Amino acid sequence: MEKKYSVTVAGGGSTFTPGIALLLLDHQDRFPIRKITFYDNLASRQEPIAKACEIYIRENAPEIEFAYTTDPKTAFTDVDFVMCHIRVGLYAMRELDEKIPLKYGVVGQETCGPGGIAYGMRSIGGVIEVLDYMEQYSPNAWMLNYSNPAAIVAEATRRLRPDSKILNICDMPIDLEEKMANMVGLKSRKEMSVGYYGLNHFGWWHKIEDKDGNDLMPEIKKHMAANGFADALSGTNQHVEQSWIETFAKAKDVYALDPDTIPNTYLKYYLYPDYVVEHSNPDFTRANEVMNHREKNVFAACEQIIAANTAVNGGFEADAHAEYIVDLACAIAKNTKEKMLLIVPNGGAIENFDPTAMVEIPCVVGSNGYEKICQGVIPQFQKGLMEQQVSVEKLTVAAWIEGSYQKLWQALTMSKTVPSAKIAKAILDDLIEANKGYWPELK
Ligand code: NAD
Ligand code: G6P
Ligand code: MN
Repeated sequence: MEKKYSVTVAGGGSTFTPGIALLLLDHQDRFPIRKITFYDNLASRQEPIAKACEIYIRENAPEIEFAYTTDPKTAFTDVDFVMCHIRVGLYAMRELDEKIPLKYGVVGQETCGPGGIAYGMRSIGGVIEVLDYMEQYSPNAWMLNYSNPAAIVAEATRRLRPDSKILNICDMPIDLEEKMANMVGLKSRKEMSVGYYGLNHFGWWHKIEDKDGNDLMPEIKKHMAANGFADALSGTNQHVEQSWIETFAKAKDVYALDPDTIPNTYLKYYLYPDYVVEHSNPDFTRANEVMNHREKNVFAACEQIIAANTAVNGGFEADAHAEYIVDLACAIAKNTKEKMLLIVPNGGAIENFDPTAMVEIPCVVGSNGYEKICQGVIPQFQKGLMEQQVSVEKLTVAAWIEGSYQKLWQALTMSKTVPSAKIAKAILDDLIEANKGYWPELK
């Protein structure tokens, strides 16, 4: 009989949980499921999401065992895969991550600059906690982590749990590859073969070919030079608001800096921080947008499904854009050897870059994990930027491990988004105050 898998979703109360649960149900032909468990450390947030999903699963896949819990032993016993998307501190803390730097005229962003560092200092402990539960109760399981900031979380697990079965992955390159496929008239990014190097939220495509080996870069470059990614918006329900559309358009200016490569959209925060700050409202940031839209809509849909005691005509839909998570689970479960961008220890895959850095590069994924695909030697421009940014990430993790104020101050000062050590210190002192109870104590 074909093996069926037991999956635990950690961060069961996440706004992305219903979309992922529905997606898992939709892909059972290739990734059959016997059990889904939601785990969260905040019962009140998880409960409405779980109760609504329970109704949906009962109506659409009654053969799947479903449970939700805040008890780690129940959550992590008899599990094959943990899909981890936690947000330590919830949106309330994301809002502060974004607003505190903006007070000082510095980029306020979830994963970049001081906001990303602050979020990293909260996330490390949470992700390690989930990983340890998984290893305690299901030592053979794999954790697929997309909790942010993925770059810092990945460096922390490299240092603190180097032998753990954790794979860190991001959806941004996937979304951008869909847009590029769209530009050249292909139905899916899966019809392309890519070369990519960088750090998470900090990378570049240097090669894009179709399955016959035809170079697609010239056509894609024409689109990038004219409109960035904005003339190829793809049809998923993520990254659709005006602020995202502006980000896709701004990629035109990011591209202009190095027309030999295609940039990740997140580079705008490092290369055009002045523009980003000018276009930010310090009283209403992305966290406010998300709280007003995604969070409200998801919880309203849950309430409605629970009240009606049916999910028929309810507001849930599978999160098509998260299909890569099923692809990743499937690659391990079925040894598909699919090529995917993962965040992994460099170890020479980028030849002229720190071998201990956690880099984002294409890997071949199978039942024994991943094999890296060598990306050769990278140009001075990217190497210089990456060296600076990887130092920010390494210093942040070192600061967390050692409880070092000095190293965290260095990390903030090192960020290309921060103009001086003085401003770094002012932001850091505010962040320390705001993050009491979430960060280790710094000395
Ligand atoms: P959310 O705040 O809606 O949900 C996060 C959930 O995690 C909450 O229910 C919270 O209670 C729970 N949680 C926090 N700490 C926990 C812990 N220690 N143990 C168990 N549960 C814990 O957040 P969201 O906007 O839905 O995003 C979830 C995560 O997914 C974030 O980290 C976000 O940055 C990340 N994300 C990553 C990508 C990617 O490309 N890598 C894409 C989308 C979202
Ligand atoms: C992209 C990134 C994620 C990030 C998300 C933020 O998908 O790859 O890492 O979490 O954007 O989206 P949001 O809608 O929460 O601002
Ligand atoms: Mn990401």
